[in-house]
Amino acid sequence: MELILHLDAEKPLQAQIFDQIRKLILDGRLAAGVALPPTRNLAMRHSVSRNTVSIAYDRLAAEGYVESRSTKGFFVSEILPDDLLRISSRPAPDNGPRPEDPPEAVLCFAGSPGGGDDRPALDFWVGRSAASAFPLPIWRRIVARLLDRESHYLTDYSDPAGLPELRRAIAEYLGRSRGVIASPDQIIVTSGGQEALNLVVELLRTRSERLAIETPCYVGASMVFRARDMEIDAVPVDGEGLQTDLLPESGRSLIYVTPSHQFPTGATLPLSRRLALLRWAEDTDSYIIEDDYDSDFRYDGPPLTALAGLDEGRRVFYIGTFSKSVGAGLRVGFAVVPRFHWSEARMLKARMSNGQSWLEQRALSEFLLDGHFDRHMRKLTKIYRARRNSLIAALTKRFGDVQLSGQESGLHLVWHLPPDFPCARDIQMRARERGVGVYALSSGAAYDFNPDAPDRTLVLGYSSLDAEQIVRAVDTLFDIISCSADGYAPIS
Ligand SMILES: Cc1ncc(COP(=O)(O)O)c(C=O)c1O
Repeated sequence: MELILHLDAEKPLQAQIFDQIRKLILDGRLAAGVALPPTRNLAMRHSVSRNTVSIAYDRLAAEGYVESRSTKGFFVSEILPDDLLRISSRPAPDNGPRPEDPPEAVLCFAGSPGGGDDRPALDFWVGRSAASAFPLPIWRRIVARLLDRESHYLTDYSDPAGLPELRRAIAEYLGRSRGVIASPDQIIVTSGGQEALNLVVELLRTRSERLAIETPCYVGASMVFRARDMEIDAVPVDGEGLQTDLLPESGRSLIYVTPSHQFPTGATLPLSRRLALLRWAEDTDSYIIEDDYDSDFRYDGPPLTALAGLDEGRRVFYIGTFSKSVGAGLRVGFAVVPRFHWSEARMLKARMSNGQSWLEQRALSEFLLDGHFDRHMRKLTKIYRARRNSLIAALTKRFGDVQLSGQESGLHLVWHLPPDFPCARDIQMRARERGVGVYALSSGAAYDFNPDAPDRTLVLGYSSLDAEQIVRAVDTLFDIISCSADGYAPIS
């Protein structure tokens, strides 16, 4: 038989011959039992070497599309059931209308405004670390040593809960720095805090009847909660964080909170409210997810013990991440779960992804156990404190008595705009045109369950800008806001 193929001399010929004949078979255009042209004929017809055609035929035979009958040549396989054929000629499933592109806030959650390389030159994007401070020589040395001595682990599976040495190092760090007394057998190493959150929500699926979350909140958490087909109680936040007197009375809830540095407002939940939250969980048979995403950085006053430290492994599921302290590209986070739930959580992690990359985990455990992490944190805290101070000083110099919150810790602060300023989105847009990234809550990786929330707040992440850049960016903001020609109240 004659077989017309369309071959492109620029691409691998064997693969094209294989693909095109396979497609003809799957479409039913080469029926079962039909003989393929002899290799010599097909080769001559398409000016390719006979060997090229033979290799493509052999591969078709190896994958079961054709059978080789000794001297007679190759025939389309008889054993392919009819209903497996013509798959590609069936219409694509009706998936309904194509979903709209996600709003900017969701893209922001991917780590940058717009999720790509189009960042403004001076960007106050939240939670970015100072790339130049990453201890590359140390990291390179650790990785090289591990590859020299332990590379056989690269080809093996390891414990889905995470490498025991990393879990030990995390437990030791948490005890020392956050007052969380946990054994390595309560820890699950995850792909960032985001996976830890998904894991805990899934783990408690059957034990919770409702979900509760602070509002405004972290957009990544709102996405996880809103994806569940469950009632959500949005509990408002004030200057001291979650308003515990507004917690839902219904029982068996699962609540997500950021007590150390509320995201986005930056409030620190005072001890009285922490205790009220724990009491509420006891009284209503509820569970708490404590997201301690940036508590490693505290500039003023001693850190408050984490909720998980007060709870002692009963109702609090603690989530941490190395995204802020070491780097988001590492994708390492963890959940600390009450002992009772650990085996189930470990099984769940196995079901989700069978554990994390060995090399990153192993390098991180060396980094922690050899004391590099503590040194790195001291260095970063110094850098970020100086950057925070520069930002506060620049804002105060340009705008006078600014109302800020969240500046005691973390990597961002929040500026509550005076009533005579334009709204936050307006400033965001105008600043963007001038190469400065500042963010209204809805674009700054935050989500407000109240659609009518006033747009009077800017989120400013200062950790990736140096002092000179911060001053330049604030000067630009000043120009924009004081531009009376545009109808804005001039700043005196
Ligand atoms: C409030 C909050 N929680 C959790 C995370 C988790 O981040 P990752 O998934 O990178 O660990 C972030 C990241 O910015 C965050 O802002």
